[in-house]
Amino acid sequence: MSLRGNDLLSLREMSAEDMELVLSTARSLKEILSRPIKKVPTLRGKVVCTLFYEPSTRTKTSFELAARYMSADAVSFSSATSAVRKGESLADTARNLSMMGIDLAIMRHSVSGSCHFLSKVLDIPVVNAGDGMNEHPTQGLLDIFTMLDYKSKIRGLKVAIVGDILHSRVARSNIFGLTKMGAEVSIAGPLTLLPPDIERLGVKAFARPEEAMEGADVVYVLRLQLERQARSLFPSKREYRDFFGIDRHKLSYAKDDAIIMHPGPMNRGVEITTDVADSPRSVILDQVTSGVAVRMAILYLILGGRD
Ligand code: CP
Repeated sequence: MSLRGNDLLSLREMSAEDMELVLSTARSLKEILSRPIKKVPTLRGKVVCTLFYEPSTRTKTSFELAARYMSADAVSFSSATSAVRKGESLADTARNLSMMGIDLAIMRHSVSGSCHFLSKVLDIPVVNAGDGMNEHPTQGLLDIFTMLDYKSKIRGLKVAIVGDILHSRVARSNIFGLTKMGAEVSIAGPLTLLPPDIERLGVKAFARPEEAMEGADVVYVLRLQLERQARSLFPSKREYRDFFGIDRHKLSYAKDDAIIMHPGPMNRGVEITTDVADSPRSVILDQVTSGVAVRMAILYLILGGRD
């Protein structure tokens, strides 16, 4: 079992053992984040490049900080200010960057499958930081890490994922990761935002969030991804909020000690009310810290770590 030198493209393809290796490594490395000087020499001399063709606050920054905390150099490529604007293809862009001596590429792109494509073009490892509607594997891992922080185990955990499942790479990675580790996953959303055959992934699908959240240990609220909808798939934001927005009343269907999660960025007042997002049961900001630890573990295991 080793991630060394390998890509990390999807949780569908990742074994439970490799996921557990990332999680246990992140558990050890998280302590570095509370030190006054957040720096270990482990990845000195390594260079990672973030290629983001879509906006990001959490994923891009946390990968770059994770690299720096491990003493790797992090360079950042932004499609908005690059030769992509002059028509350069993804393959040419990536080949040129790799000739500058980078050791690992971390990419976010709007096209599903683009990270798998990149991994065929490049000889260096590729990490998927979100590809279209396909997967966001490092988000899935940091979410599982956060659930373990609060609930100690994943096997048997009841997780309700609510919202825009159809467009959500976060939902797909969580479904693959959580079911592989033994969680019971329920999903709910408007029928137009539930992929057909979703139950084949091992989840139970409901039309009402209250049904999915009945007895849940974790309520995972998804962002409504209006930018991925060519035409509106529900009547209005107000109606969405009334039927699917998570408020105190809907939350009462979950267990009293259920935690609330959201990958960010939040549409407050649409998929989640502010009082729920900011309540003591919300672990949304803890997810962000988990993201740094999990991404440190991924860089360590791929670039320099022992099995
Ligand atoms: N959760 C997440 O992917 O956030 P960003 O879009 O800010 O990276």
